[in-house]
Amino acid sequence: MKRAVRFSCAAAAVLSALAAGGAGAQSFYDLPRLPAPIEYGHVLIDRLSSTSGQEAVTFSHWSHRMKYTCRVCHFELEFEMQANSTPITEAESSGGKYCGACHDGKTAFGHTPENCQKCHTGRTVVPKDAFAKAVKSFPKTQYGNQIDWVQAIAGGMIKPKQSVRDDSYKPKPYNDAFELPAAMGMIPPARFSHEVHNRWLDCANCHPDLFAIKRTFTKHFEMRYILERKFCGACHLNVAFPLDDCKRCHAHAQN
Ligand code: HEC
Ligand code: HEC
Ligand code: HEC
Ligand code: HEC
Ligand code: HEC
Ligand code: HEC
Repeated sequence: MKRAVRFSCAAAAVLSALAAGGAGAQSFYDLPRLPAPIEYGHVLIDRLSSTSGQEAVTFSHWSHRMKYTCRVCHFELEFEMQANSTPITEAESSGGKYCGACHDGKTAFGHTPENCQKCHTGRTVVPKDAFAKAVKSFPKTQYGNQIDWVQAIAGGMIKPKQSVRDDSYKPKPYNDAFELPAAMGMIPPARFSHEVHNRWLDCANCHPDLFAIKRTFTKHFEMRYILERKFCGACHLNVAFPLDDCKRCHAHAQN
């Protein structure tokens, strides 16, 4: 019965990690090191810049998600949810695609010579004052940006646009919530709410590529794959609150 003993040891280790609020889980799961809250969700884009004699491009998720939902950029404007994988060129961007859909000199600063270096900074540049203000006025969490984005949007503290292409767009009302049972004894299930996610995302951000559109039909749905950016890990590793926050998903974890 060696296997059974090993298994319950693992479950016990994970359970205590869950109870400790993630501290022990860091070593159990080898979670990626978290950047400072102000830099969580920051992307330095350099597919083409440095080879074209330009500095890499700075992009901050928290500053943009206050005004726009994920859906705007990752559905309407076709940015990939993976750093350095969207085929952005300066010609297309200054012509109104990608960043240029907003950075057109009207909605936000445009692609004109005095502004090149606002994007092509070569390093992470984040508006510190705006972050300090946001952290002060929004409900807090322990990980990621340490901003509770769920409460911020539900409480009307921010009203990010759902669309920049269609003013009449309204998300489909689909609020089904359920628990995803974990494939390990003693581990509390992960909770999932469509309502929470649909405030930010389009159905197409998750279905059918990340998840089957039928309960329990998603194959290989385990933590080790989530840690490889699959399933929930597509967002909950570097933009939505990180995996360190075990109890936010495994909600019934005991103390
Ligand atoms: C709103 C942000 C933004 C501004 C402003 C901006 N760029 Fe870019 N630019 C980007 C992004 C994003 C890329 C893609 C980066 C990559 O893949 O490395 C890019 C890519 C480039 C590239 C390499 C790709 C190509 O198509 O040749 C050059 C050169 C470039 N920009 C020059 C400029 C110049 C010159 C200016 C000012 C007139 C400028 N950019 C202003 C965001 C911006
Ligand atoms: C204003 C536009 C914009 C908004 C809004 C936005 N993103 Fe992004 N996102 C980007 C860009 C640009 C990239 C980098 C793409 C690239 O380099 O090819 C990116 C990359 C990502 C990545 C990959 C990060 C990495 O380090 O590899 C994830 C995950 C992601 N976004 C999730 C989200 C989620 C979740 C939301 C909503 C909470 C969101 N994004 C909102 C523009 C946006
Ligand atoms: C959906 C609209 C939208 C898109 C797409 C967008 N931005 Fe912005 N961005 C804004 C707005 C609005 C501001 C704030 C107004 C301003 O500074 O002119 C802003 C501000 C910024 C700033 C100033 C610092 C900060 O974080 O607030 C940078 C740098 C920036 N954007 C880079 C980018 C890059 C690079 C891209 C593309 C990879 C991009 N943005 C795509 C709307 C957008
Ligand atoms: C953040 C990701 C995400 C988004 C966005 C999302 N879903 Fe889902 N959806 C899931 C997951 C996870 C499951 C469960 C899959 C499983 O158990 O294999 C699911 C299951 C479903 C199911 C099956 C429910 C059942 O009881 O069998 C339907 C129907 C569905 N989603 C519709 C939608 C619609 C419509 C939208 C947009 C309004 C949407 N989903 C947006 C993640 C998402
Ligand atoms: C973003 C939500 C989320 C977070 C955060 C999260 N998990 Fe999970 N976890 C899941 C999902 C979803 C499953 C799989 C459910 C299924 O099989 O349908 C899972 C499964 C598990 C399992 C079962 C075995 C396996 O590998 O699938 C264990 C153990 C587990 N999680 C531990 C943890 C620990 C410890 C943490 C904190 C470091 C954590 N989880 C953080 C969503 C999450
Ligand atoms: C496409 C991106 C994406 C995927 C995939 C995704 N989420 Fe989320 N999730 C978000 C965003 C954005 C939020 C808002 C909170 C934030 O950004 O920190 C969120 C919030 C949550 C919350 C917080 C609810 C609350 O009331 O505080 C839970 C729990 C959660 N997700 C669980 C999951 C689980 C479990 C999965 C996998 C089945 C999953 N998520 C997949 C983007 C995603």
